[in-house]
Amino acid sequence: MYIANPDRYKKMEYRRSGNSGLMLPVVSLGLWQNFGDHSSYENMKEMVLTAFDHGITHFDLANNYGPQNGAAEKNFGRILQEDLLPYRDELIISTKAGYEMWLGPYGNWGSRKSLLASLDQSLKRMGLDYVDIFYHHRMDPNTPLEETMGALAQAVRSGKALYVGLSNYDGPTLEKAAEILTDLNVPFVINQNRYSILDRSIEKNGLQEMTNALQKGLITFSPLAKGQLTNRYLNGIPADSRIRTDGRFLHESDLPQAKVEELRKLNDLAASRGEDLSVMALRWVLDKSGTTSVLIGASKPEQILKNLQVLDSKPLTKQELEQIDKIAHRIHEIEAAHA
Ligand SMILES: NC(=O)c1ccc[n+]([C@@H]2O[C@H](COP(=O)([O-])OP(=O)(O)OC[C@H]3O[C@@H](n4cnc5c(N)ncnc54)[C@H](OP(=O)(O)O)[C@@H]3O)[C@@H](O)[C@H]2O)c1
Repeated sequence: MYIANPDRYKKMEYRRSGNSGLMLPVVSLGLWQNFGDHSSYENMKEMVLTAFDHGITHFDLANNYGPQNGAAEKNFGRILQEDLLPYRDELIISTKAGYEMWLGPYGNWGSRKSLLASLDQSLKRMGLDYVDIFYHHRMDPNTPLEETMGALAQAVRSGKALYVGLSNYDGPTLEKAAEILTDLNVPFVINQNRYSILDRSIEKNGLQEMTNALQKGLITFSPLAKGQLTNRYLNGIPADSRIRTDGRFLHESDLPQAKVEELRKLNDLAASRGEDLSVMALRWVLDKSGTTSVLIGASKPEQILKNLQVLDSKPLTKQELEQIDKIAHRIHEIEAAHA
């Protein structure tokens, strides 16, 4: 029988999600990759328990995480049943709906029909009565915002979600959605968006500014740029890496030699701080105003332990931030030239 590490809360830092009552660990674990049907169940279980043993109380899922769609929720549900359910009140479990999940017009986007059916399916797969956070996964240009927000409100009123979140929204849409959710008295507490040294979209589309203005939380996904901001690809492409094992969301062509050379410079900078590139990349996001938590992925428990070293890392200096910006700028130029 699993017994959680009694010291699990000694080191982790918890930040408040905006001005809500919800505290999240600064490092959260996402189950998008490596929790599907083709992955080792023992490895995924070890990753989840390693995370929890070190104070990572937040696990992020979505209806379609797999492959197959739903597999990550099913596998996480098994881990809950076998080991973690006695600790349910120490866990923040999130799921989402909004990307294609099942066939036909109701398995996608943001209708009331789709969101509420999807939440019921997610709860069933995980064997839960409620999730802590239910997200709309992406903006839907064709469904009235009032309908989508109304479905989130219903999820909370029915007791199937404690809080709601929005993912991949931009600043202006977030502002409108937040107004509707406030009118409906819904505890909307968090935004989930991509943010890393290599992807600054939220600085440009108003999301970061609006999140701060509205005093909402921000959990940032792919803070390691799916593995590019680690030592993973500095000397070739390992056989067990995401590029080789999955190949859907990160490709060899994303890493031309000139870009790898710039990534090496980032790695050297991290080394001069006495840390790994992944740790510096996480510190960079955590130092940004309004960040509540970095949402990492992993393929091995050791990666989670390595990334937790961010808890010991010092804030980046002005000079280091400038150096990072210069390298990131050169990387964007290289990416644009290869696009
Ligand atoms: N809302 C959305 O639309 C959305 C979209 C994408 C992701 N997300 C969420 O964000 C989570 C994280 O996304 P992500 O997996 O792209 O995040 P990421 O943290 O940028 O990338 C994780 C990958 O980096 C590599 N890695 C991690 N730590 C490492 C270390 N210490 N040393 C070497 N390599 C390391 C691993 O790659 P290898 O597998 O190659 O070892 C790992 O799978 C997802 O699970 C999901 O919950 C949300």
